[in-house]
Amino acid sequence: MHCTINQGRLRVLELYSGIGGCAAAMRDSAEVVSAVDIDCDALDVYRANFPHPTLRRTLESLPIAFFRHANADLWWMSPPCQPYTQRGRHRDLDDPRAQSFKVILQHLAHVRPRYVALENVAGFLNSRAHHLLREVLDRAGYAVNERFLCPTELGAINRRPRFYLVAALGELRDWPHFRVMSQHISNLLDAAPSPATFVEEVWYERYRSVLHVVSTEAVDQTRCFASSYGKYVVGSGSYLATRDGIRRFTPVEILRQLGFNNGFRLPRELPLRRGWALVGNSLSVHAVRSVLAAIPELSVLGGES
Ligand SMILES: C[S@@+](CC[C@H](N)C(=O)[O-])C[C@H]1O[C@@H](n2cnc3c(N)ncnc32)[C@H](O)[C@@H]1O
Repeated sequence: MHCTINQGRLRVLELYSGIGGCAAAMRDSAEVVSAVDIDCDALDVYRANFPHPTLRRTLESLPIAFFRHANADLWWMSPPCQPYTQRGRHRDLDDPRAQSFKVILQHLAHVRPRYVALENVAGFLNSRAHHLLREVLDRAGYAVNERFLCPTELGAINRRPRFYLVAALGELRDWPHFRVMSQHISNLLDAAPSPATFVEEVWYERYRSVLHVVSTEAVDQTRCFASSYGKYVVGSGSYLATRDGIRRFTPVEILRQLGFNNGFRLPRELPLRRGWALVGNSLSVHAVRSVLAAIPELSVLGGES
């Protein structure tokens, strides 16, 4: 069955929507017809920032009729990355967290939206999940562009190397030469960060050799913030040296580094740890804008930072 061509703005299904990194990247350039996620806190954040319809369900429990009735032009997906991460057990399609992706691919083969886009960790490339996705897309006649991209290549301050795929039943544009307006750490900081973000002196002395610390003066890049930031010491993101001591970045400061706009809000009652977990799971808005600009109707995204 061929998809119907919608008039006006692209209709988007934001699958694994989380806090809405894709919606933040598209702003008003497209219409999100449904944002689906299983996490209540993530959807609370989503609803606090976007007017789009949301659905709290496991994606594998949604019948194909849901996907058909959504009549979306673009299916955006950022499925759980644990089955493909270096730190994980590399269970790939055997990991229960990949189950929803397998079900979506079955629906994709039948519904055939005009565009498909996906973000995941580098380890996704050449995984069995990746092969399955390519098999489905190739058999259905999609043109496919794939790339690795770190937002620092676009001029952003925060490292977040990821694999991206865009597929079309039609033509795709070349990736644009997209530049992020120069970012300086001091412009991205909260005026009054929570005291709970500061680490104790003894703790810092114990771990200083393994921490990545940036200063407010420096123009250093910050490391990729993982959902374990605030929980694990090493490899989960950078720390900040201030006049008052060493501290972690607040979730909102991380969002700004990812390219979310200044108006993006986290609910006041959201615990700090949950905030870190949600933003660590999210996306580089800069990178997603530049990736989605390969879709002709979204090429405007490639023109701004
Ligand atoms: C890598 S994160 C994507 C985050 C999102 N792109 C954002 O901007 O915040 C994966 C998301 O998928 C959700 N998720 C995981 N398994 C799911 C499933 N089976 N059905 C629906 N959502 C699921 C998680 O709650 C999480 O928010």
